[in-house]
Amino acid sequence: MKLALDRRDATVGQVDAAVSGVFQRGEKDESLPRSLQKEDAVTGGLVAGAWTRREIRGRKREVTVIHRPDGKGRVLLVGLGVRAEATHETVRRAAAEVARALKGKGARTVGFRLPSFVAEGVPSDAAAEALVEGAALGAYEFLRYKTKTDGGVEEATVFLGEEHAREEAALRRRIDRATSVTETVAWTRDIGNLPADTASPERLAEEALKLGKELGFKVQVFDEKKLAEMKCGGILAVGGGSSTHPPRMVVLEYPGAARSGKTVAVVGKGITFDSGGISIKPAAAMAEMKFDKSGAVDVLGILRASSLLKVPARVVGVLACAENVPSGSSYRPGDVVRSYGGQTMEILNTDAEGRVVLSDALGWVIDKYHPDEVIDLATLTGAQVVALGDDTAGLVTNDDRLAQGLLDASKRTGEPLWRMPLTDYHRELVKSEIADVRNSSEIPVAGMLQGAAFLETFVGKTPWAHLDIAGPAWTTATTRKWQPAYQPAGATAFGVRTVATYLEGR
Ligand code: BES
Ligand code: MN
Ligand code: ZN
Repeated sequence: MKLALDRRDATVGQVDAAVSGVFQRGEKDESLPRSLQKEDAVTGGLVAGAWTRREIRGRKREVTVIHRPDGKGRVLLVGLGVRAEATHETVRRAAAEVARALKGKGARTVGFRLPSFVAEGVPSDAAAEALVEGAALGAYEFLRYKTKTDGGVEEATVFLGEEHAREEAALRRRIDRATSVTETVAWTRDIGNLPADTASPERLAEEALKLGKELGFKVQVFDEKKLAEMKCGGILAVGGGSSTHPPRMVVLEYPGAARSGKTVAVVGKGITFDSGGISIKPAAAMAEMKFDKSGAVDVLGILRASSLLKVPARVVGVLACAENVPSGSSYRPGDVVRSYGGQTMEILNTDAEGRVVLSDALGWVIDKYHPDEVIDLATLTGAQVVALGDDTAGLVTNDDRLAQGLLDASKRTGEPLWRMPLTDYHRELVKSEIADVRNSSEIPVAGMLQGAAFLETFVGKTPWAHLDIAGPAWTTATTRKWQPAYQPAGATAFGVRTVATYLEGR
């Protein structure tokens, strides 16, 4: 989507839909607020009428459409809830709601009247960025397999009006940033939404190579032969069941804008399809397991965003890619597998495969790059969804500063994270009788933290953060109903904006 800025007022009649924010009205608010006078004037009094009839209440998710009698497009009023509680996230969600409401409705251009979205908790620069970000993320549709489409908003403009015209330069920088971020999220979602027959480990490697060529990164692809030489037993075991889609480990390197910057490794779980393997999953919702590559796809997005935003740190991305399917060559419950670095893993459940592939990727990147920090993203456990739901990712980390940095970034992006504890209790649960660790235990408690405790044994003392994104990585036609409108059905690219924002280090 094209994102733009205009110094004029949104009501000048230049866009298909001119949008104003409305804060929640009190029960006794009879007369139209002064902030809506311009909207009322261009609609010949229709806004005041709707207000008096109590059609406009300013509630969140409320969108009111009024057609201008002069034929110069529509006026949209979007609810923002209680003014004193508004944040940039309120504005991001409202803009997404508008983009969604306009899908297939013949509006190609949308303009937001900036002054109407500014409040005590929402300064103009944050509002401007949130408006275009929300609009672009909310308008996203995965169209690759649609032969017919209805079309939606293609261009979103922030109209400054007299009130903010002097801030043009600063606001333009925020809109440029939003362009880089939202374009990257759409790119990431487009890969994340590809089904497993197409988005094989090889295909993810090709996407990484293409990205590297475009942005000038070094990209390495390790195929099954190379992985065997490297003794990456985890990825090979999980990927061994697939006769058609062999495993890959992919490494991308963004050099960093600052010469003496730190090195951050970002590692993603890339299970292109998770049937569970020999410990096979029930049929219900198995199709959703095409999204089990989301962590790895996010890593591609984080590398792309890091480059576009010119983040200071060197960022090393690692994708641990395999297809987990049952066959005569699959790994089995009871097997003992040796990870890169030599630590042994007892496999009790082939469906706890994410931690097994990540063991190689974490061990390898720490051994080769000695990163200052490691962040992994993984759709690791169903237990994460039970504990935190579809909107909030689980954060497990051994480093308080890293925790604070990620939590601060998450506040800015609106992607919720919740820090979970990791104790010796969880560490005990993943100890094996016959190997160093086991990939699941006989008691189904604290599943998210058993997963994290397993991963922790491969990171040693390196500052590390694990993001379990099993819930938020994708939405369905059902679950999207409770999500912000900027998470349309399918892959969300959850984590890309937050980790990229963290790496920006502002
Ligand atoms: N990919 C799944 C986790 C998952 C489940 C993500 C549902 C999103 C929605 C993972 O590989 C898995 O199967 N985990 C098992 C681990 C268990 C066998 C220890 C789980 O969570 O049930
Ligand atoms: Mn699994
Ligand atoms: Zn999985």
